[in-house]
Amino acid sequence: MNVLITRALPQKGLDLLEAAGCVVTQYTEKRELTPAQLIELCQGQDVLLSSGPNTFDEGFLKACRHLKGIALLSVGYDKVDLEAATKYGIPVSNTPDVITQTTADTAFLLMLSVSRNAFAMSQSIAKGKWQFYDPTANLGQDLYGKTLGIFGMGRIGFNLAAKCKAYFGMNIIYHNRKPKPEAEQELDAQYVSFDELLKQSDVLSVHADLSAETKRLFDRQAFGRMKPSAIFINTARGGIHEEDALIEALQNTKLWGAGLDVTNPEPMDKNNPLLQMPNVCILPHIGSATVETRDNMAIKAAENVIAAVQGYPMPNILNPEVYSV
Ligand code: DGY
Repeated sequence: MNVLITRALPQKGLDLLEAAGCVVTQYTEKRELTPAQLIELCQGQDVLLSSGPNTFDEGFLKACRHLKGIALLSVGYDKVDLEAATKYGIPVSNTPDVITQTTADTAFLLMLSVSRNAFAMSQSIAKGKWQFYDPTANLGQDLYGKTLGIFGMGRIGFNLAAKCKAYFGMNIIYHNRKPKPEAEQELDAQYVSFDELLKQSDVLSVHADLSAETKRLFDRQAFGRMKPSAIFINTARGGIHEEDALIEALQNTKLWGAGLDVTNPEPMDKNNPLLQMPNVCILPHIGSATVETRDNMAIKAAENVIAAVQGYPMPNILNPEVYSV
């Protein structure tokens, strides 16, 4: 069985595929494949293991309807038209659970870094600005006892909330498609409307999927309703906030600061004004980028590939209805 992989993959995933007898072709050039190139590479392949920003729209899925499966090396699946995948009989899987802690750690890192202006403070040393001790300068803000607002109380949001409650004794509020009783029982979290989330949060952290409902949801109006002392964190998808509105809110001191692991577009342009702001910390989408987590993601994706190759349901199937049509 032939398997195409669109990027370098941690060895643990490759070993599993090899042990299962898969013949692997890897596209390891460090440039994006065009949709046409990806369609061409998929001819003669049985399963695709995709990591990276490839879009699987109706056109791709129709042209590659011979595929027995698409295994994503990510938990996010906003670039896949799942309805079309089902229509063309292609099972699609992702890598849930294994990225939860590491991605929540990234949100925690950004939150703490923004609260202490850590990135800019570090850079100021190289600019020769560490010269004179002034007790009234370089002041951040404490997070102890503050209110953390979680937008999207899934696994990652829950994990961040638990960390913040345990470490900073933060009060947790959240907004979600529906209330999460376990968050209320275990974290004493309070379900609030989107408007209340904006108004009450000292730190607001985004953990939702990018969808028609969440696209550009954090716009000028939303940032305008937040506290001027609030910190905005996004480790989910850059498309959920409007970048111009965020820049404007930060420039007009309508927000204390922002921490982003995701931007729109990615990669971010090196001249982006956000990169010059002392109250902003930006990372290059490294939410799940640890050796351990990437190994676990590769193993999970490989297990999904092997199931598809062997004709079993993929363990992390996103469109289970594909198996009943
Ligand atoms: C995910 O798993 O969705 C991460 O954002 C990496 O793409």
